[in-house]
Amino acid sequence: MPDTHAPSNVPLVHQWMPFTANRQFLEQPRLITGAEGVYYYNTRGDKIFDGSSGLYCIPLGHGRREIREAVTQQMQELDYAPPFQYGVPAAFRLAAEMAEMLPPGLNRVIFSGSGSESVETALKIAIQYHRVRGEGQRQRIVGRERGYHGVNFGGWSVGGMVNNRKSFGLGLPGALHMRHTKIPENQYEMGEGTHGANLADDLQRFVDLHGADTIAACIVEPIAGSTGILVPPKGYLQRLRDICTKHGILLIFDEVITGFGRTGQNFAAQTFGVTPDIMTMAKALTNGSIPMAATAVREEVQQTILDAAPENNIEFYHGYTYSGHPVACAAALATLKIFREEDTFARVRNLAPAFLEQIGAFKDLPYVTDTRGYGLLSAVELEPKGKPGDRGFNILCKAFEAGLVLRAAGDTIVLAPPFAATADELSQMIDIMRKVIKES
Ligand SMILES: Cc1ncc(COP(=O)(O)O)c(C=O)c1O
Repeated sequence: MPDTHAPSNVPLVHQWMPFTANRQFLEQPRLITGAEGVYYYNTRGDKIFDGSSGLYCIPLGHGRREIREAVTQQMQELDYAPPFQYGVPAAFRLAAEMAEMLPPGLNRVIFSGSGSESVETALKIAIQYHRVRGEGQRQRIVGRERGYHGVNFGGWSVGGMVNNRKSFGLGLPGALHMRHTKIPENQYEMGEGTHGANLADDLQRFVDLHGADTIAACIVEPIAGSTGILVPPKGYLQRLRDICTKHGILLIFDEVITGFGRTGQNFAAQTFGVTPDIMTMAKALTNGSIPMAATAVREEVQQTILDAAPENNIEFYHGYTYSGHPVACAAALATLKIFREEDTFARVRNLAPAFLEQIGAFKDLPYVTDTRGYGLLSAVELEPKGKPGDRGFNILCKAFEAGLVLRAAGDTIVLAPPFAATADELSQMIDIMRKVIKES
């Protein structure tokens, strides 16, 4: 256990905390001061199971020596170089390795620093792609209710989370939203829902209403994560693919959560057998150690943009100071090496059936109104008590006291444990969660 769990005397008021009830936090701080393997430690030195893999980003557990060593070595060799008009070997190596893991054809990779940035990158590529092909009128982006694509203007505009939208004005013009896929017919179904593939026809309705020639792209999370793990109905993603192909619309999968093994394969695209034209990735790429994200595109999409620019011109006026940061690349290369050598995603395939069965069994508890999940990604939805979200937040606080970090999406409790956890640790996590829900 790390010996860094001493309480700190630093005042808490100066940090404006992200996505946090700041005033409540000051009254009841939940400080995490150390981590090792699949556990955190609080200021008292108590062990707390990481039931959300950080924020879905630490599948291998905390403190992997190989990643730390790779980062240290890279810091010694080359801490930073400008990514515009210069390149670092680690970024090219990483892009090549990712191309191997991605579905065939998605083999051009552009780096950024966060999931939100990877989404902005994807949306801009889609719009420019059509523009250089002489279809500049294709500017609409179709997203989905209950979708989450980060917090930047493009991402929240195409996303469908009410609280993330309502305070920030008009957003991206031309964003459209399909209906979400949480329907009562699939209640308590673990895995893909039997019903609802026809919801993909919402995209066709936008084509009929606005004209395909106004639509640049359709962006969805294969499994919607942040609004409580909405697994796609069987056939839904393929139907979206077919409509996109028919009408020249680019299909973007936001795999920021589902990428890198969460569903048991490299990407949800492979799990569900549907290949997008553009894919965003972030969490798990560096096992949470250094911020990093990526957007992969089909070769033809990149080539079209490259070919359209005059010689010696920058083709895509986009990038970030920290795109392909060498230290982040080193962390990612070390992470991918562990994934390969330890066959990490096979652990997900092995652990998932019993895990999902235990999640499904929450159906018998009071207040539970739905259970959902796929791979090591799951949700238990609860009846609200008081105002919406109160019960979920209360459970989050109680679980922390009882030794479990989890996610609360309103009144839906999300569990997404590290792939490094054992079956016994997963059962212990479930026991804590049952107890906390019963007492809620
Ligand atoms: C599907 C999806 N897209 C984008 C993002 C945004 O990523 P970030 O918080 O790294 O900007 C998230 C974050 O949870 C996400 O789940």
